[in-house]
Amino acid sequence: MKILDGKATADLIKSEIAREVELIVSAGGKIPHLAAILVGEDGASQTYVGHKERACAQVGFKSTLLRFSAEITEDFLLSEIEKINNNPDIDGLIVQLPLPKHIDEQRVIEAIDPKKDVDGFHPVNVGKMVLGLPSFVSATPWGIIELLDRYNIETSGKNCVIIGRSNIVGKPMANLLSQKRSPGDCTVTICHSRTKELKEHTLNADIIVAALGVPEFLKGDMVKEGAVVIDVGITRVKADNKSGFRLVGDVLYDEVAPKCSFITPVPGGVGPMTIISLLKNTLKASKNR
Ligand code: GUN
Repeated sequence: MKILDGKATADLIKSEIAREVELIVSAGGKIPHLAAILVGEDGASQTYVGHKERACAQVGFKSTLLRFSAEITEDFLLSEIEKINNNPDIDGLIVQLPLPKHIDEQRVIEAIDPKKDVDGFHPVNVGKMVLGLPSFVSATPWGIIELLDRYNIETSGKNCVIIGRSNIVGKPMANLLSQKRSPGDCTVTICHSRTKELKEHTLNADIIVAALGVPEFLKGDMVKEGAVVIDVGITRVKADNKSGFRLVGDVLYDEVAPKCSFITPVPGGVGPMTIISLLKNTLKASKNR
């Protein structure tokens, strides 16, 4: 069993991006600039946005964080997005999800200029991605593709089971892995809460992407020997330690890992690769402009 080390891979790619930024700046180009909007006090969202800001600093990007209280109106948020859309210094914008219940997430996503939508959530970018056209691709699935690529994992003709059908991970992941290219060319099955006999699907899978958000859902007896297992889950569960919680994936690691050819750990697997994709999308947005 080998670990797919997202942290080490992300560090390597960060140094590649930092070198590229140096070259751009020394040639008189503009420093890439990412803006993030955080609404409310959700602990996990604050942590993720903090990681994104730190990653920007590490590669030499500018970053701006706009923090708003959970009580802001949808109209106020839309007007702030409009300001960023029109700000020529800002190349990319992310609005950290989830948003408070009274704000329509889809309306917010669609308010972002697709050219600055470095999360790849806008329907224009999703549509282009599905057609295989140049676009911003949702950061988590794109990071997983990059990780498979960097570890030279053969995907062509493999049976891939994706557990979870979210717009952010499951759906784009299924699309990317079935596209005609490498990594890709998989035979993809999407499983979800209504899937019957899930285990029959997972036992037939060469590659499993667990992205349903249920801690330790995938057990050892659901995985065949030699499978590649990608764990997208990251849930905070209460623990008797300093922070008061520990991070748990969607995979019961101790049971599943011994059966795998490759597996991503939590933390240090998919999470750091998600941030890399965001940086890459921001660099691309900056170059496009
Ligand atoms: N919430 C969970 N994952 C993400 C992400 O990739 N981007 C944003 N904006 N919010 C998220």
